[in-house]
Amino acid sequence: MMYQGKWIRATHELGDVCPVFQKKWSADQKVVKAELLLTALGIYEAKLNGERVSAYVLAPGWTTYEKRLQYQVYDVTELLQKDNELEVTVAPGWFRSPMPGWEDAPQRIARTEQTSGLFGEIRLIYENGEQVILPTDETWVSAESAFRFSEIYDGETYDATFVSKDWYAVETFDWSTEILIPQEGEEIREKDRVAVKEIITTPKGEVVLDFGQEVTGYVEFTVNAKAGDEIKLLCGEMLDAEGNFYNANYRAAKSEMNYICCDGEQTWHPVHTFFGFRYIKLESFPEAPKPEQFTAIVVYSDMKRTGRIRTSDAKLNQLFSNIIWGQIGNFLDVPTDCPQRDERLGWTGDAQVFVKAASYNYDVEKFFMKWLNDLSADQFENGAVPDVVPDYLNNGNTSAAWRDAAVICPWQIYLTYGNKEILENQFESMKRWIGYITETTKDAYLWTGARHYGDWCALDAKVGGVHGASREDFVASAYYAYSTSLLVKVGKIIGEDVTYYEELYPKIVAKFRETFTSYETQTEHILALHFNLTADSAQTAANFVQKLKADGNKLQTGFVGTPYILHVLSQHGYTDVAYDLLLREAYPSWLFSVNQGATTIWEHWDGVMEDGSFWAVEMNSFNHYAYGAVGDWLYEEAAGIKPVETAPGFAKIVIEPKPDKRIEWLEATLDTRNGQVRSYWKFEGGKVKYEIDTPVAATIVIGGASHEVLAGNYIFWG
Ligand code: BGC
Repeated sequence: MMYQGKWIRATHELGDVCPVFQKKWSADQKVVKAELLLTALGIYEAKLNGERVSAYVLAPGWTTYEKRLQYQVYDVTELLQKDNELEVTVAPGWFRSPMPGWEDAPQRIARTEQTSGLFGEIRLIYENGEQVILPTDETWVSAESAFRFSEIYDGETYDATFVSKDWYAVETFDWSTEILIPQEGEEIREKDRVAVKEIITTPKGEVVLDFGQEVTGYVEFTVNAKAGDEIKLLCGEMLDAEGNFYNANYRAAKSEMNYICCDGEQTWHPVHTFFGFRYIKLESFPEAPKPEQFTAIVVYSDMKRTGRIRTSDAKLNQLFSNIIWGQIGNFLDVPTDCPQRDERLGWTGDAQVFVKAASYNYDVEKFFMKWLNDLSADQFENGAVPDVVPDYLNNGNTSAAWRDAAVICPWQIYLTYGNKEILENQFESMKRWIGYITETTKDAYLWTGARHYGDWCALDAKVGGVHGASREDFVASAYYAYSTSLLVKVGKIIGEDVTYYEELYPKIVAKFRETFTSYETQTEHILALHFNLTADSAQTAANFVQKLKADGNKLQTGFVGTPYILHVLSQHGYTDVAYDLLLREAYPSWLFSVNQGATTIWEHWDGVMEDGSFWAVEMNSFNHYAYGAVGDWLYEEAAGIKPVETAPGFAKIVIEPKPDKRIEWLEATLDTRNGQVRSYWKFEGGKVKYEIDTPVAATIVIGGASHEVLAGNYIFWG
């Protein structure tokens, strides 16, 4: 595309202050349509004649900026006046903040040294059909804005007494316009508002707001103050064992909202950054706070909600709510590991394990299409997929299960929504990933000799460690087999020649069986079963149940084993054991965190123990969605709603509910691309009543008996 706009930047020294760019113009004819195309190296906020041009926040979003930078186009016709003033503030955002948080990462400094810039075009169509473009160029001016500081991890500082008055000419500079792409993902929006539940005075005397829910976004406050009064808000997820404010687990992320008041009543919230929090410490506030002065604004990608689960069990309902909040708290343009500490990165492994549940809870097709385009764009020459996408680590690591996101995520998005486009988009990237393993493994047909995260955070890790006991070569080789099997399916679906991979796959399976003749950990059993690698699945499943018993009927799994643990049990006739684990309340379990008051999913099973002690200061997030993968088991097994591989997008459905007496009733609804499916069961008078609504032909399996039905509403007793 040809643009008239040029990249512009401020010419005066700004230090930490965010520049504001300005363009004024007067209309001498009637404008019938006005559009604004904008993007920035940083996060921008645009106001035309004092009004925000859109509800889109944190624009232009986060992509692999070196190769792909989204621009947005807004219809601003309604905001036009005779004399117009467009002002655009540009903050560092993801582009220039020192990310990742660890001190010794050279790229974090390099990132802050990049230039901030703005690019855009105001496109006016006059009544007579004439088109005029006012591009960003030397005619724009810039000044210091009231945003004195802004950054992703540390927060924002706004001086409401500051007025931008010294305007300077801008300069144009060279930066690629080839990288510009139209908005590809969902818009980022302020989606929800949460009121303060309680204002607490802690034993240390700190004044802390409790929103009663961990959220991602920022705090809006209204205050009556004098010019120069200072407000400082700090974020936390937890109170410590004594009930004091705690945020050591944010590590280097200061997460501050700072505001210098003007005179009178005023309302403010940060604009170019976000935080993960439940508690807000009022480090300084000019008056005695009242709950109604504060609101948490919840910010995430504008995805449509599609899945719901309700049950008679309040704790399960809370777990499901935690899964949902974990998702929206981390689906802010990129699927992140967590929203609070000095990471907030697009960790591939986390996204991979959660993609199925995510795709049922919300419509995430567009969200993943964009992110996977970034994944392919960031893939290394040799086919290796980075740890995080966009690649802010650039550490050359490769880890099984993490990088397999390249194959597993597009496959799941296809299954859930039935659109081949994502497979076509990602096919080359998938091949390159499998190619990377094939080229670099020490032993052919396995994946050996590399370093991996393994069954991350599993409980069979050494005390205090994070690498679970499952053998890394085992996990890596299992994923090599699984991803290769998916690549073969994908190739066939989109009509590509995959003969090479069809021949490769059985060789990997054979070598795997020959090499790994026994399974040592829970996760090794789970992977062997779930990826069809065991020659005798009935025996392996029985051994696994034995192993679980020997382990005290407790899960020991981490990021790799947990997503599949309940699936392999219910798929091999052990649904009761799956429910044992699901409904277990003692540590370790999903409901343990619920009993501990969790409102999102924790990174560690033992994030905080009964005595209030924390797992650790380092790496202890209370909003990490990975273990929320259990949500997909609730849809697929408890409620029994499953897609059919040959009719993706729920064009056909298998509905096989698996009730358990310990829950009186359960209901799941799923808005598929083919209409809404509902599965409900209830124990009534010693029997189970099933209500099933299907929008398409379905196979309904009740108590082992199959019924082929057309679209409609059905009741069964079993
Ligand atoms: C992240 C994880 C991620 C892991 C990789 C952590 O620091 O928060 O969620 O997957 O590193 O091992």
